[in-house]
Amino acid sequence: MTIPPPIAMLAELTHRCPLACAYCSNPLELLVAKTELGTDIWTRVFREAAALGILQVHLSGGEPASRRDLEQLTAAASEAGLYTNLITSGIGLTRARLEALMAAGLDHVQLSLQGTTAKVADFIGGYKGGFDRKMAVAADIDALGIPLTLNAVMHRTNIADLPATFDMALTLNARRIEVACVQFQGWALKNRSALQPTRDQVETAKRVVAEATERLRGRLVIDFVPPDYYADYPKACMGGWGSTGLNVAPDGRVLPCHAAETIPHLTFPNVLDTGLAEIWNDSQAFNAFRGTAWLPDACRSCSRVTRDFGGCRCQAMALAGDPFAMDPVCKHSPHRAKVDALLAEDAPDGWTYRRMAAARP
Ligand code: FES
Repeated sequence: MTIPPPIAMLAELTHRCPLACAYCSNPLELLVAKTELGTDIWTRVFREAAALGILQVHLSGGEPASRRDLEQLTAAASEAGLYTNLITSGIGLTRARLEALMAAGLDHVQLSLQGTTAKVADFIGGYKGGFDRKMAVAADIDALGIPLTLNAVMHRTNIADLPATFDMALTLNARRIEVACVQFQGWALKNRSALQPTRDQVETAKRVVAEATERLRGRLVIDFVPPDYYADYPKACMGGWGSTGLNVAPDGRVLPCHAAETIPHLTFPNVLDTGLAEIWNDSQAFNAFRGTAWLPDACRSCSRVTRDFGGCRCQAMALAGDPFAMDPVCKHSPHRAKVDALLAEDAPDGWTYRRMAAARP
């Protein structure tokens, strides 16, 4: 069977990050700097990605600006023929660095937004002064004419600020905003009950998004990702396992999704010893949940199967303890009661910030 190539590659250049967001989606154990792939290996991987048919690379982390060779990496990806998108908090970027990144061929920036005021944003990001720095970087991005998308992660503490978030996107001349409610993977799962918005908050947010989408049509593109747990059906996580994208971790392991490491029976090949095409086409990890043949009977016979491809395997693992189970979010899942029980939990007062201390050597 011929497997269509992925569209995008997430290049997790580093796990190092100055922010400490409680909703971080990176794994519980972070990788330290000395395990990171070097410039030469990434350069080869970008060439292999383009040869495989990948169109765009997301230069991400952690904070990718923590890499001193970010400009060389951007140039390497651009020279390979990839569309380059930098996903950043803005911390570590300067006007001079942005100019160098542009010269290296940077096509687009996605800037994270933790809140619309310094007080809220710095509290959520756990980094004093981060908001002011981010605003300065956003102004430089605008002045240089680099296309900008804002990434606004929404949760119980900031979801009521959606109208101000859209106003800020207009002020910063963003072309697009991704408003994504927290996905409970990685570190975010530890803080789930503190981050989970209420049902009323979510319903209000849907109305605000619908109104803003109409009002701002032609000025701002709004993508809204509602929270999974209140839905009746799961989303097509990653557009279907092993179908649209792949993640390369800082140490070179290649994962079908962010949280795939939580699934115990998978083994992840590494770009250090295996080519990207072989990993994509032939590896156990990428073929484990590809297509629909592996699904339980109830899912295979469901009319939604080609829309959600069985939902999220990591969510099935986290909530049902079985990556082959029906996604517990689905209203037909025997595990749905677990999701409802979680939604009924009281929210604690605080959350646990993400710090680099829990790093894997
Ligand atoms: Fe792994 Fe959804 S995060 S399949």
